[in-house]
Amino acid sequence: MPTDETILITGANGEIGHGLIQHLCSSHQARIVATDIVPLDSSLQAACHTFVQGDITDPALAARLGGEHVFTTIYHLASILSTKGERDPELAHHVNVDGTLGLLRLASDQSGKLGRPVKFIYPSSIAAYGIPDLETKQRDGRVVREDEWCFPATMYGVNKLTCEHLGRYYAQHYRRLDQEAPMRIDFRGLRFPGLISALTVPTGGTSDYGPEMLHHAAQSKPYACFVRPDSQLPFMVMPDAITALLQLESARRENLGQLIYNVTSFSPTAAEILEMILRAFPAAQITFAPDARRQGIVDSWPADVDDSAARREWGWKPAYDMRRSFEDYLIPSVRQRYA
Ligand SMILES: NC(=O)c1ccc[n+]([C@@H]2O[C@H](COP(=O)([O-])OP(=O)(O)OC[C@H]3O[C@@H](n4cnc5c(N)ncnc54)[C@H](O)[C@@H]3O)[C@@H](O)[C@H]2O)c1
Repeated sequence: MPTDETILITGANGEIGHGLIQHLCSSHQARIVATDIVPLDSSLQAACHTFVQGDITDPALAARLGGEHVFTTIYHLASILSTKGERDPELAHHVNVDGTLGLLRLASDQSGKLGRPVKFIYPSSIAAYGIPDLETKQRDGRVVREDEWCFPATMYGVNKLTCEHLGRYYAQHYRRLDQEAPMRIDFRGLRFPGLISALTVPTGGTSDYGPEMLHHAAQSKPYACFVRPDSQLPFMVMPDAITALLQLESARRENLGQLIYNVTSFSPTAAEILEMILRAFPAAQITFAPDARRQGIVDSWPADVDDSAARREWGWKPAYDMRRSFEDYLIPSVRQRYA
């Protein structure tokens, strides 16, 4: 990416923000402008041209960012995740939808300044899906395409689906009355599965039982998994998630036949995750104590997703299958982290 590119990353201090900033600063020369409601981790500060602390729903933040910079790409990562979102659904809607709307408007204004559509990269989620019950999931919801089962059962999933539609609206239909020509944006979204990082401990996601088992085992701490052993979801490790974001960002627009893409890597049950962890940490004290609400959410998400469109149209292919994810990335990195 040339040096005259300026990238905005919201939610920069989160799990994906950590991985994305570390990757961008080692491989790209673009200016990174980062923002988050909490202070930026000291390990990320040198990689960023500017950090602005603020609430994504505050119009003054968008005005400041838009007044001081012209962005070529926006990675909009700031969000309240699924479990926390169910505790306060109205707050989740405000942050996840109103926050995104403000940024889409910013991207549209910035496209006018830039003279071409700003790329808006949006991490959606398998939470956008909603399968009515476990029996249906086991019978019909095993490998789900982007246009199937879009009836989310959580506020977070509703927010994700809403933002996908808002992105489509700002990319294809938005036009203000005071504009002579529409200022459209280049919106690109990914539906991520559960993500597992060796470097950060997740907070507030419903697929967090995977990484939580691992991080507890590596610290010899007991952990009660909040879903049944047979619960099955798609997962991916953080390096592949970062690759997916960057590949989608750099794909040629004319090759993209849709605005939202599934991406995934492997689909273990909770028992299979535990099996991999026990191979590395045989003394791990992991039990199962399903929480009815979180179990219900997991049962409404697909066991696997069809990511053939991403593979076909922009060359998506995960580098880490389940064995490699654990043996080459997760286990060595968590061992080092907690050594
Ligand atoms: N981690 C996953 O498994 C996963 C899976 C699918 C999609 N996603 C999506 O990817 C994006 C990033 O996820 P993550 O795992 O890095 O989440 P995270 O919770 O680690 O990070 C989110 C960041 O957003 C910030 N934030 C929250 N409210 C804010 C507000 N009002 N104003 C500004 N910043 C605010 C938080 O401080 C945090 O640093 C989110 O949109 C999430 O929905 C994540």
